[in-house]
Amino acid sequence: MSSSQHEVGQMAGRREGGFNQWLNKRFPLDSLLRDHITEYYASKNLNWWSVFGSLAMVVLVIQIVTGIFLTMSYKPSAAEAFASVEYIMRDVNWGWLIRYMHSTGASMFFIVVYLHMFRSIIYGSYKSPRELIWIFGMFIYLALAAEAFFGYLLPWGQMSYWGAQVIVSLFGAIPVVGESLVEWIRGDYFISDITLNRFFALHVIALPLVLVGLVVVHIMALHEVGSNNPDGVEIKEKKGPDGVPLDGVAFHPYHTAKDLVAFVAFAIVFSAVVFFAPEMGGYFLEHANFEAADPLKTPEHIAPVWYFTPFYAILRAVPDKLGGVILMGSAMILLFFLPWLDRSPVKSIRYRGWMFKTAVALFVLSFFVLGFLGTQPATGLYTSMARVFTVVYFAFFLLMPIYTKLDKTKPVPERVVYHD
Ligand code: HEM
Repeated sequence: MSSSQHEVGQMAGRREGGFNQWLNKRFPLDSLLRDHITEYYASKNLNWWSVFGSLAMVVLVIQIVTGIFLTMSYKPSAAEAFASVEYIMRDVNWGWLIRYMHSTGASMFFIVVYLHMFRSIIYGSYKSPRELIWIFGMFIYLALAAEAFFGYLLPWGQMSYWGAQVIVSLFGAIPVVGESLVEWIRGDYFISDITLNRFFALHVIALPLVLVGLVVVHIMALHEVGSNNPDGVEIKEKKGPDGVPLDGVAFHPYHTAKDLVAFVAFAIVFSAVVFFAPEMGGYFLEHANFEAADPLKTPEHIAPVWYFTPFYAILRAVPDKLGGVILMGSAMILLFFLPWLDRSPVKSIRYRGWMFKTAVALFVLSFFVLGFLGTQPATGLYTSMARVFTVVYFAFFLLMPIYTKLDKTKPVPERVVYHD
């Protein structure tokens, strides 16, 4: 056994020989731990932006575990769904906690994932050789969006019902096949018990499986090329005689220690929301959803949950339905192409010029403003603003090949910059 294997064995508190040896002859536990944890070297200068990947995994686990418990008392039928959620909230032991953890977890998932994506943008983590990590990430994002959408129908409240109605009917804008497609998705002529049943199946089994699978390949691709860092320096290019990158430190214990601190901070924020503001002023749980679905009563104002509102604002900014659908779809799909739209010779924002910095600032501004507009009625000034900020949003992507090429970059150091 090599000395490092020996250390791993000791760290896990296992004796050499005995069960450990028996197990490792049959299952590569030690080598998996070594390759992905104790001897996976990530740059020593990683900052707090790097904790959101691990936090996303934590939220995924929270959602799966609380989801399993919710499923034990939830009834996926149009006649019983709404009442079963009320039953969970009032009668099931700790049911209120499980439900609030799940509903808060949904919003926290998007907060964490948006921050995780933002980190990738400012440090150029999508650029070569990490394009595939980004692409898998984008598929995760789409799967997450679908997961949230299907889940939202399940409580069978007014907003569940009418939100699903609005989004599903968007497919009707597709020429020729549109209407048949909408019928096929709903499984009925309107959003009904049949729709609820299939959304339930997709929400509790199909998409969670896809999500977990995608996270596995996301991490595999990451560990193949190695993590990026705030300097955008490839640490594998400078290795010591032992083959370890000079600027790398073992993921465990060095990065796990930091991730643990982030986890505690996250747990505090998460608990504060769950215990003190689970509705978050109508942003995490919309007020209209406390009323049971009524197919005969359209709510005055239909808006999706906050994490979809930037895209919803783009949809409504276009007067033509098909045009709106295409633009909204493109707003998501364009993100896939970032690795190829960005022509800058440097990765990190630290060494980029004012053009990229301004573009990112405007992009973030447009995302927030569109997010706000998506929660408001699409009238007058709001519609004009949505149009302006839709242009800003798209300009970030479409002009990227130009401004990243023109931008004056600073020289990137040979080794990562690290201050004790
Ligand atoms: C369930 C959702 C996700 C999970 C659990 C997850 C997990 C992770 C983890 C653990 C890491 C390594 C630690 C870190 O650098 O933060 C990582 C890196 C990365 N993720 Fe994700 N991720 C998720 C979603 C996404 C999405 C939606 C994107 C982008 C569209 C994305 C893009 C990336 C990129 C580019 C890296 C490499 C970053 C670097 O090396 O600096 N991820 N992810």
